[in-house]
Amino acid sequence: MKVLEVKNLHFYYDNNKPILNDLSFNVKKREFVSIVGGSGCGKSTIIKVLAGIEKITQGDIKVDNSVSYMPQSDTLFPWRTILDNILLPIEIKKGDLKKGKEKALSLLERFNLIDYWKSYPKELSGGMKQRISFIRTLMNEGELLLLDEPFSALDAITREDLQNWLLNSFSTLEKSIIFITHDIDEAIFLSNRILVCTKSPISNFKEFLIPKNMDSQYRLQLKKDIVSAIKGVNFYEEN
Ligand SMILES: Nc1ncnc2c1ncn2[C@@H]1O[C@H](COP(=O)(O)OP(=O)(O)OP(=O)(O)O)[C@@H](O)[C@H]1O
Ligand SMILES: [Mg+2]
Repeated sequence: MKVLEVKNLHFYYDNNKPILNDLSFNVKKREFVSIVGGSGCGKSTIIKVLAGIEKITQGDIKVDNSVSYMPQSDTLFPWRTILDNILLPIEIKKGDLKKGKEKALSLLERFNLIDYWKSYPKELSGGMKQRISFIRTLMNEGELLLLDEPFSALDAITREDLQNWLLNSFSTLEKSIIFITHDIDEAIFLSNRILVCTKSPISNFKEFLIPKNMDSQYRLQLKKDIVSAIKGVNFYEEN
């Protein structure tokens, strides 16, 4: 069963530079899909289009339920407490704050961050702030989570910690995820499927299915194949 179906998507920014050119792909229910590709190929653009932040030029996007979007940069507001940061999307939508607060507190509890609900972002570590951003993303009821390089600003140990955390959370969350990363190992570790942008504008992906169990040799070869698929790209910057 599909949670997202994208058909013949075209997208240009105002300067008429094509970023997506007749792109079609889909995501199944409970699937963890990563998108990798060189800087500037259009990964964030895909997610922004899916989140409705950028309007598509042409094509069709079918989403089951709504989507929840976690942007590329950390956007916790320093002057708001952790709870108030998490409640922000509900405030903006003028939703039910009482219900929202209950949900926020139960998510903080579940992710072992309940002690920090009254704290301010500066009192939290980078990894904790990323978890708070993730919880805020979960405040939207979306079935499909769009995560744009959520761990890119973290040190290696914290990052590995959060990868394990995300993988464990994913198995209980009943969500589907589109995850953008530059880290091939991270993508292989987390995903059911990896979509590689091989050229710009993006008209299709090179697809890699990730088996649950693989030996180290298979993993190494897979990584090599993905890296060479990425390197096949001719980006605008290089033209
Ligand atoms: N608002 C905008 N207006 C015009 N061009 C834009 C805009 N946002 C992005 N672009 C251009 O679109 C292309 C794709 O950008 P995008 O942010 O989607 O890349 P990306 O794959 O996410 O890169 P990175 O890995 O560095 O985050 C880039 O060439 C960028 O300069
Ligand atoms: Mg990006």
